[in-house]
Amino acid sequence: MGKKVFIETYGCQMNTADSEMIATILRQNSYDLVSTHKDADVILINTCSIRDNAEQRIYNRIAQLQHLRKKKKHLKIGVIGCMAERVGELLFEKEGFVNFLAGPDSYRNISDVIEESENKRITDLVLSHIESYEDIVPQKLLESGVSAFVPITRGCENFCTYCVVPYTRGRERSRSLDSIKTEIASHVESGIKEIILLGQNVNSYRHESQEKLEDFPDILGQLAEDFPNTRFRFSTSHPKDISDKLLHVIADHSNICRSVHLPMQSGSSEVLKRMNRKYTREWYLERIDAIRRIIPDCTISSDIIIGFCGETEDDFQQTLSTMKQAQFFYSFMFKYSERSGTVAAKSLKDDVSEEVKTRRLTETIKFQQKLSLQCNVNDKGKIFEVLVEDVSKRNKNELMGRTSQNKVVIFEANILDYPSGSFVNVEITEFSSATLHGKIVEI
Ligand code: 5AD
Ligand code: SF4
Repeated sequence: MGKKVFIETYGCQMNTADSEMIATILRQNSYDLVSTHKDADVILINTCSIRDNAEQRIYNRIAQLQHLRKKKKHLKIGVIGCMAERVGELLFEKEGFVNFLAGPDSYRNISDVIEESENKRITDLVLSHIESYEDIVPQKLLESGVSAFVPITRGCENFCTYCVVPYTRGRERSRSLDSIKTEIASHVESGIKEIILLGQNVNSYRHESQEKLEDFPDILGQLAEDFPNTRFRFSTSHPKDISDKLLHVIADHSNICRSVHLPMQSGSSEVLKRMNRKYTREWYLERIDAIRRIIPDCTISSDIIIGFCGETEDDFQQTLSTMKQAQFFYSFMFKYSERSGTVAAKSLKDDVSEEVKTRRLTETIKFQQKLSLQCNVNDKGKIFEVLVEDVSKRNKNELMGRTSQNKVVIFEANILDYPSGSFVNVEITEFSSATLHGKIVEI
């Protein structure tokens, strides 16, 4: 029997995908993956650094896990991912004992790191210009589920002034289309119905092979054609690369989902400039118009940072008005959190008070709820193809699935008749800001 490893994952979808890949590497090296920390000889905490509260959560978790050592003297705890990369060996000095650290480009060596940590504390934090793990075909950690994440780019070099990612995940690199296809084929064979292509800037994908340069629209179109019965989603897109070419590829393939996540961050051109986002409010809104023109049934979602350095009341109002013009279907909204080492931390003042950030965030959340409701109003009476995910959490006589627009739909049906992964047509009868309700129809 191999050592038992439990992987706990925090942060973004990329981290979930990384944990699945690490699990695959460990299985190949005779480790057993277990589903609770109580059974583990080794605990890997795959971490996020994006905001200070994400890191505080991890410190608390490390402290909490110390009690397990009383029962299991040989237990090893490793911190891996963005926070290991950012905080580095200082993590050894904080509360709670950590045995090893591994950064996002060190997972290929993870079993060596674990072995070496038997006798001493180990760190492996070297970032790579080329590592894309393209030869590793990950198995899903959870056996259930209809979707799989497939990373196609890693890293980021946009250097938005607030963001820690270029420092924790290094240079941007794309993997070959062949390796992406191999991974998707293995998922499709195991019953996966929806592939979510991932990258910090997924639409900046560029890969050169046999003197052919392929960009994101090229490969997205090819994948949609090679796997015609599979739905495709992608996340996250940078507005600078949401080209008309990409929008036409989406419009031309019915199995590419009609939902684009396009983080706006702020609606004020002045703030966007300080963020180094490389676009203005007008430019962003023009791209929104292009999406509406080329893919009329597409939903658009966003990330918004509230209270960035120097954000005035007028800047904030511009964020609200841009949200309204863009008609976001949903947004992830965050208070600005200064991250040491970033350009903003070095050269801009975090001068919006906590109180003002809180007030503006609350207002933004309320405003988004209104927009989400408006976005669902016109769906009443329409019929959508829904991919069944599971039994509804609230009522076991109902199922939950998603439309191409990424809207959650609840409808009465039995999971035995419509198992996870089935496609079913549902007519919308009711809606709230978060969910659509409907009934199955035959067409
Ligand atoms: N403070 C607050 N939010 C941030 N994000 C990135 N960095 C910060 C920060 N320092 C948000 C952005 C990004 C999302 C993943 O997290 O909105 O799109
Ligand atoms: Fe968090 Fe960003 Fe790292 Fe993902 S890439 S884990 S969001 S810091």
